[in-house]
Amino acid sequence: MLVRATEMLQKAKQGHYAVAQININNMEWTKAALLTAEELKSPVILGVSEGAGKYMTGFETVAAMVKAMDKSLGITVPVALHLDHGSYEGSLKCIEAGFTSIMFDGSHYGIDENVEKTAELVRIAHEAGMSIEAEVGSIGGEEDGVVGAGEIADPEECRRVAELGVDFLAAGIGNIHGVYPPNWQGLAFDALAEIQQVTGGIPLVLHGGTGIPEEMIKKAISLGVSKINVNTECQLTFAAATRKYIEAGKDREGKGYDPRKLLAPGTEAIKEAVREKMEMFGSVGKA
Ligand code: 13P
Repeated sequence: MLVRATEMLQKAKQGHYAVAQININNMEWTKAALLTAEELKSPVILGVSEGAGKYMTGFETVAAMVKAMDKSLGITVPVALHLDHGSYEGSLKCIEAGFTSIMFDGSHYGIDENVEKTAELVRIAHEAGMSIEAEVGSIGGEEDGVVGAGEIADPEECRRVAELGVDFLAAGIGNIHGVYPPNWQGLAFDALAEIQQVTGGIPLVLHGGTGIPEEMIKKAISLGVSKINVNTECQLTFAAATRKYIEAGKDREGKGYDPRKLLAPGTEAIKEAVREKMEMFGSVGKA
């Protein structure tokens, strides 16, 4: 059931768990995320970066595929189709294409310009019945071409953006896209606690969900995080399972080269990664 993300995240916030945003790249990724969410009776957010949207030939294609697949698979759990780290123009395109949620990432602008552009998009998204996420501070590392320095968000800036009526807010708290380096300092929980306090109960978003230890995830949820984004982990696990299949020579046995067979172990591996995250985030049975 395609819905905006507002209600599922408010419910998560009240229930002290988080909903996973699983970034999708193609049909296999989408199917794996939807089937696992349905099996576990968990809400799910399908994240689409601008790069992934382009790869799939455009946001319209993505929206059509997700809507049709949701229907064909008989998915009953709440599913939001969400733009990840969108530009201003990308956000407008997704609103037109039929997404149910957008993230406008204005964190690379000065705070006044971020506030101004976010405010406009809050109005447009809400008129269209969609939810909107904004970002303050920045997420370190690189996410599909979007590079961030990783500054910790300023609580006062978070308050200004939250007051615009965004439905949920991503605040940089030392989290990084991609694999965490061995010398990573961990999440800045003091900053997170302060941000939660000044933003008046708005659900907070933790990007860079790959590789964050379980105790940190649990603590982040206790401090107001209600949405956790996962991308790299599904990519790594898909690649490892596909490599194993090829290295074992399975593609040369019978019709093992058939894409439906070749891509099956990777797809199963994504399902397993999604299951682990949903269990860790506490969203199982919450649909
Ligand atoms: P990872 O790639 O580190 O899991 O981060 C995903 C993300 O934050 C998408 O916005």
